[in-house]
Amino acid sequence: MADLNNRHLEPELLDGLPAGDPRAIASRRDLVRINALMFQARIMASLLRANVQTPPLRILEIGAGDGKFMLTVARLMAAGCWSNVEIVLVDRVDLMGKDLCNSFAAFGWKAQPVTADIFEWADEALHRPFDLVCANLILHHFDDTRLLQLFPRIMTMAPMLVATEPLRAKVPFVATRFLRLIGACAVTQNDATQSVRAGFRGAELSQLWQLSGGTPVIEGRKGLFTQGFVGASMPGSR
Ligand SMILES: C[S@@+](CC[C@H](N)C(=O)[O-])C[C@H]1O[C@@H](n2cnc3c(N)ncnc32)[C@H](O)[C@@H]1O
Repeated sequence: MADLNNRHLEPELLDGLPAGDPRAIASRRDLVRINALMFQARIMASLLRANVQTPPLRILEIGAGDGKFMLTVARLMAAGCWSNVEIVLVDRVDLMGKDLCNSFAAFGWKAQPVTADIFEWADEALHRPFDLVCANLILHHFDDTRLLQLFPRIMTMAPMLVATEPLRAKVPFVATRFLRLIGACAVTQNDATQSVRAGFRGAELSQLWQLSGGTPVIEGRKGLFTQGFVGASMPGSR
């Protein structure tokens, strides 16, 4: 069993593959199923319902991938009266299909995909143009030093961050060994294990958020595999 007491980051195989590589395509397909198995969208939606009192007009998702995760969140939240939302989906790889905007439009959401590195893009974004930043399975890609650079950027853009990340614990770690049983490809099997080792536990995100000048709202295990985090950019900004 790996040492799960401390975060351990190694580059994920998917990040080193061209978007069109068959192994990358297979792994991104696996990611949709893994998000479903982890109940990531449902966990995100429940964090949003519990912590965002006024329906937002503008949301930013960082590391949005192919946009399917946020589309599921939009479906769940639109049922709860979050309509007329503008969603900006940033990923450094161009993965969002042409139909994505139409799919969001079905829920009254206007989607704007952006292909950019989130660090560079955030430096160019206008001061606080969003009501909310969402992050799913992206923060664990960055070591603590990088997160301490990312969090202040998020704080200049929005009053709140809601994140759903891998839980660094025994159960998720062991579960990654069974991914081959659902047909996950070798890239996914490797990256899932690395993701758990790079994931979060306890109040780790809260501490980094606080060091960045923000106010942690909640952090903890959600379900079997997920670390949920909500941070406010300033005291009382919820
Ligand atoms: C594990 S995937 C999660 C994608 C999506 N959130 C989902 O749940 O399907 C992580 C994503 O973060 C993106 N990413 C990693 N570093 C990034 C950066 N510096 N700027 C923008 N996107 C980044 C990757 O391209 C990848 O699509």
